[in-house]
Amino acid sequence: MLFAIGSDHAGFALKMEICSILIQHGHEVIDFGANSTESVDYPDFGEKVSLTVSSGQAERGILICGTGIGMSIVANKFKNIRASLCNELFTAKMSRLHNDANILVLGGRIVGIDLAKEIVLTWINTPFEGHRHYNRLKKINIIEKRVFGI
Ligand code: RB5
Repeated sequence: MLFAIGSDHAGFALKMEICSILIQHGHEVIDFGANSTESVDYPDFGEKVSLTVSSGQAERGILICGTGIGMSIVANKFKNIRASLCNELFTAKMSRLHNDANILVLGGRIVGIDLAKEIVLTWINTPFEGHRHYNRLKKINIIEKRVFGI
């Protein structure tokens, strides 16, 4: 699978670890930065990853900031993006089963590398359940069109 990944300075270290994990598991990664722990603004990186997933250039995205909150707010502004902040395993699994989340958001100041690895692998390997949840996603698309005209 092709992933777009991005972080701010607070998510930089975890982003580098996650890039390695993805590659080890046979995935491809487009890394939009940040490239160090020097202070940057998370919306700049959230926008790049979200646009890449929204346009279909990457199948899924991963975003990391300090808490994951800022990146979630940014990512969910974009058409067709269903970004889920998952700092534990249950929401990682449910965000795929019920919400067909296409961007995983993590808090680099909240989760350690071992937990993050479990979250990422669970999120990648859990399919969307469909059925009644499909209708709910269609309703989200209708809201998107009504509110943003897109
Ligand atoms: C940066 O200090 C921090 O505000 C950012 O990484 C993120 O947690 C915002 O939601």
